[in-house]
Amino acid sequence: MERLIILDFGSQYTQLIARRIRELHVFCEIHPYTYASKLVLSDDIRGVILSGSPCSVRDADSPNPDLSHILGRVPVLGVCYGAQLLAQQGGGEVTPATIREYGRARLSSLDAASPLLDEMHVDSQVWMSHGDTIQRLPAGYNIIASTPEVAVAAFKIEGQETYGIQFHPEVTHSTEGKLLLRNFVVDICQCAQTWTPDHFVDSTVEALQATIGPDDQVILGLSGGVDSSVAALLLHRAIGPRLHGIFVDNGLLRQDEFATVLKAYEGLGLNVTGVNAAPEFYAALAGISDPEGKRKAIGRTFIEVFDREAQKVQGARWLAQGTIYPDVIESVSIHGSSVTIKSHHNVGGLPEKMNLKIVEPLRMLFKDEVREVGAALELPAEILNRHPFPGPGLGIRILGDITPEKVALLQRADGVFINLLKEHGLYEHVWQAGAMLLPVQSVGVMGDERTYERVVALRAVTSVDGMTADWAHLPYDFLAEVSNKIINQVRGINRVVYDISSKPPATIEWE
Ligand code: XMP
Repeated sequence: MERLIILDFGSQYTQLIARRIRELHVFCEIHPYTYASKLVLSDDIRGVILSGSPCSVRDADSPNPDLSHILGRVPVLGVCYGAQLLAQQGGGEVTPATIREYGRARLSSLDAASPLLDEMHVDSQVWMSHGDTIQRLPAGYNIIASTPEVAVAAFKIEGQETYGIQFHPEVTHSTEGKLLLRNFVVDICQCAQTWTPDHFVDSTVEALQATIGPDDQVILGLSGGVDSSVAALLLHRAIGPRLHGIFVDNGLLRQDEFATVLKAYEGLGLNVTGVNAAPEFYAALAGISDPEGKRKAIGRTFIEVFDREAQKVQGARWLAQGTIYPDVIESVSIHGSSVTIKSHHNVGGLPEKMNLKIVEPLRMLFKDEVREVGAALELPAEILNRHPFPGPGLGIRILGDITPEKVALLQRADGVFINLLKEHGLYEHVWQAGAMLLPVQSVGVMGDERTYERVVALRAVTSVDGMTADWAHLPYDFLAEVSNKIINQVRGINRVVYDISSKPPATIEWE
């Protein structure tokens, strides 16, 4: 499969480069820069991108891999540090910038004949972020763009398709950055742009069939979320009923969620076992108020329940997981190349205990790509567009200890909120929403009676990835309707408040 290789020197923007290239329907992989020495150029590798870095090429211990077996053989684009590295390795000179250039700059000249800059304009805004500058280019390196401050904003090496650019085309502030990347990927690397969700589905199904033996059974934990559901559909397409989905009701799901999602899975023809384990979870949680203590109790119980169910599958050889690309590359350090996976993706010691191999069909996809693949596989909208929901569920939205009564109360309040968001067409404009049950009671009056009941806090946020978030500016009329409905319909709650904190410094969940 045609692809580009991105060698990661540790820039915060490396993932963004990959996303932009995937948006051009070209597959690409990120590897730590140390991978350069192992990189064997085959026909399907159409080009290599060298990322930026927080390091300086002037430091003795900065990343400095040998690129001689790559340069001149496939097109190469060095971005920021990558460009400086190319210049320095070729014998040029990189010095600390006299004027440190961060942020917006404008190209004051560009070589219109360069295929990299085709259709770009003088005055085009580009995003700079560097403390060093290329002072002198080696012989045979030609400047193809400049800004008023930076003479060498872009260069090309004569006789080969190797380019360096000082600015970051992957960020939206570089207004023609996408065009530059398109020029590189499509015109210079000659990629066919065939990386589409349908293509991914076909090639992944084929690969799964080739990897998983003809009699092997595969176990997958389903959560009702997008990732595990899409992984299930792919595996189902590849191996049919030899995929054994396990969907555990931990008693901390949303109102009616277990039944609705299980039904949706069955409607998709998936071989899924629903396990009602709520009493076990409540027993494990009894009396625990500390958030981390609750998370641990929930995690431990999940492993026990899941292990027990998994042992019932005869001939199980594989444990499938819905790991996605950010989980895989998040932990790649530029100084080592070990790839570790977030602990919550590993289901206890099950793989070792049952001698299971791991299969992760989504490990190369970003979240929005998972959704696109889900749409291509006709995953119902109710699962496809579902808000993120934490593994410990309502367990971390009930502040303090958990009882079945509190869960029932919160499920009802949360149900009112979520249903009204959907009815008003607001659900899709919000990244994540839910209700929190607070450990306080407050005085109210209903009819002639004084009440002393619980408080619910509503939380709704907008976000791109959950790392940062703003509180959603929901209309007052809407909030009034939610509040009235909760207080009127959910006996035991007499006060509703709306959380107007952003992340940071607050978090999305309250615990
Ligand atoms: P915070 O509260 O850290 O949440 O701003 C960011 C995102 O992570 C989810 N979250 C969790 N997910 N286990 C999970 O699987 C957890 O313990 C957990 N805590 C928070 C949260 O719902 C939000 O989407």
